[in-house]
Amino acid sequence: MCGITAYIGPRDAYPIVINGLKRLEYRGYDSAGIMLYDGEELQLSKTKGKVADLEKITATARNKRNGKIGIGHTRWATHGVPNDVNSHPHVSNSGDLVMVHNGIIENYDTIKKELTSRGYTFKSDTDTEVLVNLIEEVKLNEGCKLGKAVQLALNSVVGAYAIAVFDRTKPNELVVARLGSPIAIGIGEDFGEFFIASDASPFVEFTKDVVYLEDEELAIIKIGREVRVRKIHDDQLVDAMIQKLQISLEEIEKGGYDHFMLKEIYEQPKAITDTFRGRLMPEDNFIKLLGIDTYGERFLNADRVIIVACGTSWHAGLVGEYLLEDMARIPVEVEYASEFRYRNPVLTKNDVVIAISQSGETADTLAAIKLAKSRGAFVYGICNVVGSSIARETHTGTYTHAGPEIGVASTKAFTTQITVLTLMALKLGREKGSISEEMFGRYLKAMDKIPQQVEKLLEINDHVKSIADVYKNATNCLYLGRGFNFPVALEGALKLKEISYIHAEGYPAAEMKHGPIALIDENMPTFVIATKHGHYEKVVSNIQEIKSRSGKIIAIVTEGDTTVKEIADHTIEIPETEEALTPLLTTIPLQLLSYHIAVMLDKNVDQPRNLAKSVTVE
Ligand code: F6R
Repeated sequence: MCGITAYIGPRDAYPIVINGLKRLEYRGYDSAGIMLYDGEELQLSKTKGKVADLEKITATARNKRNGKIGIGHTRWATHGVPNDVNSHPHVSNSGDLVMVHNGIIENYDTIKKELTSRGYTFKSDTDTEVLVNLIEEVKLNEGCKLGKAVQLALNSVVGAYAIAVFDRTKPNELVVARLGSPIAIGIGEDFGEFFIASDASPFVEFTKDVVYLEDEELAIIKIGREVRVRKIHDDQLVDAMIQKLQISLEEIEKGGYDHFMLKEIYEQPKAITDTFRGRLMPEDNFIKLLGIDTYGERFLNADRVIIVACGTSWHAGLVGEYLLEDMARIPVEVEYASEFRYRNPVLTKNDVVIAISQSGETADTLAAIKLAKSRGAFVYGICNVVGSSIARETHTGTYTHAGPEIGVASTKAFTTQITVLTLMALKLGREKGSISEEMFGRYLKAMDKIPQQVEKLLEINDHVKSIADVYKNATNCLYLGRGFNFPVALEGALKLKEISYIHAEGYPAAEMKHGPIALIDENMPTFVIATKHGHYEKVVSNIQEIKSRSGKIIAIVTEGDTTVKEIADHTIEIPETEEALTPLLTTIPLQLLSYHIAVMLDKNVDQPRNLAKSVTVE
């Protein structure tokens, strides 16, 4: 987590770095800092709080904003509480080296003791201050240049990092390196300027040419020179591939919405359409998915599919389990990546692992993929961020094409991940013959209608807002669903707790009787997904059981439902579709509900406390 950004070139670095940090704030917002170099002095400003707080302290001091070189950081605290001193950038003892860091240096304590014994002193509790001093120690001891010192120092650390380092004694260059945390290098015309960031969003308006560092790579960035990339462990020169950026400025701005989360909820009809584009062909009764076209046999011959993911992506994986088992009749297990990677799982080359990740950078998911590959399994990725680490690490996969998701609470990533999983399940089901031609055609037509149905569903925003107003002061909430909508209940509960800080639990509706029913009283609202399919009558019974214990019910029902309407305190209607596709609709009102409750409680919707969008540490 943490966002890093830097600039070197002919322009004033301050606005570029500050705006870049604002775009990276989704990665962490415990503290922020910036270092500028004006050719004479290092100007360092850092503070606990957000980038806006940093702007306040630099606003009054002109000399705090001068310089054509700048490095900045927005922090998600790992080592040391979020305060001014622990904020990045960190400066070495001599005052020459300045560094920002995203990641964790696991053996920092041993290195710190060693450096302390050699006379180094430390102001902060961070692993970053230890690393910048280690680089300094190596540079002095070996009498080498910054790039070499960074390389040698990194070879003696254990952990994960993306770093940018500046040396006051060589002010025309920056050194960056990565292991486990991303670094993008934006290249200005004729190599006349460079932009460095944790992702490309900070420099999208300046250049479309970008080099993404791979793990274990270090780059020396000098004005007027091509980017020189080397492997950290053996110094081998690497061909730095320049790629063309695919995101636009418009995509990463709020576009008139109050929050990114709301914008992203409303973007879902388009996001799902973009996920379909070139893949769903109802008129030809066909689904085209390159990954499955090429590697379908791996799935069809697999002993089982194991889905690994975290958080919301894990919930999408659970929906995937229902889809793949129902349509393609392939046994599926869904695993938290963090558990899977450390559990010594039984894996063979006949297993297919599907890794799901919006960011494509989640450390646990990435580690689970590496483990699965090392045991011979075939790994398929479902990612949103093009060129991300997970997209590169998997054997093949499918991009969701949801566009940048900036709100920390995942919304359009969830529905587009389910869209991809549905396309996969349908395609595999057809190839396997486990789904009839007639059913396949029906599903394709129903899928095709989903974007319009989501569009229509979004018109209930005011109704959902009025329900949010009734329940905004609840301290505990229950979410229930069955079958395909059990994972939606989990996701609904996660959305509420992460942005409004209200405790919420998701359960399969029938499990309620095995414990959670003890919590029911008039103060605990229950949100139930009760669409007219499969186990409708059973869910209706669950609703009755809650009502007879004075519980309040907010039910998501199919358009035209009358039974639940008579019992529930509130109902929200969704358009009719095939049962397997309902998660794409039932999740929308739950997203809106959490959004409105959080706004009404005056919470920071896009940047909820303690969270970060991209979890690149374990
Ligand atoms: C919840 C949320 C997180 C992420 C999780 C995985 O709204 O955003 O739970 O889903 O951190 O992230 P990705 O999908 O980027 O691997």
